[in-house]
Amino acid sequence: MDDNWDAETLGVSGCSRCPALVESRSRIVDGTGPATADLLFVGEAPGETEDERGEPFVGRSGDVLDDALRDAGLARADVRITNCVRCRPPGNRDPTAEERGNCLCYLERELAAVDPELVVALGKVPAEHLLGRSVAVTAEAGDIGTLSATDDNWPVLVSVHPAATLYDPGQRDVLSAAMERAAEQVGSGGQSTFDAF
Ligand code: URA
Repeated sequence: MDDNWDAETLGVSGCSRCPALVESRSRIVDGTGPATADLLFVGEAPGETEDERGEPFVGRSGDVLDDALRDAGLARADVRITNCVRCRPPGNRDPTAEERGNCLCYLERELAAVDPELVVALGKVPAEHLLGRSVAVTAEAGDIGTLSATDDNWPVLVSVHPAATLYDPGQRDVLSAAMERAAEQVGSGGQSTFDAF
């Protein structure tokens, strides 16, 4: 591990592992939400709005995610949200396998610190990255597998990406069902009641 990781903030600074992303980013976008959350949502990579504001899922996909969370009885403030890759790829392309691999050590550290009850993979890229196999996200949405990207066996629930519902409204129900399953798994609320004490 390098010294770009800050164990206090669960944040990364000054990382230059991916030259193309260093070029395209205006900042590194770290995860947000309680460091004690029971649910850790993992998206693909920051988009334009996230890069501008320095927070994951604050653009159009973030609005969809917030609505889906609320409909499932979860508050965004109670869950942790991060991405496979912390820098915006040029033209919003998918992060490459090499870029995901470069950022994995940070995700691993975030997972170890948060110790969530359930990881939720938002879309095909994170699902395949975390599960280490090809995933048919619509067919497998709501299924729970085991994280293979790191040494720890975190349970990973597959979900469609919130943005998928913007292009295909038929995906809304699929997203909602996955969020409901996630809420059920942690007894709703997103943050363990033990964390309050
Ligand atoms: N899409 C993602 O996968 N992550 C974000 O942070 C925003 C949009």
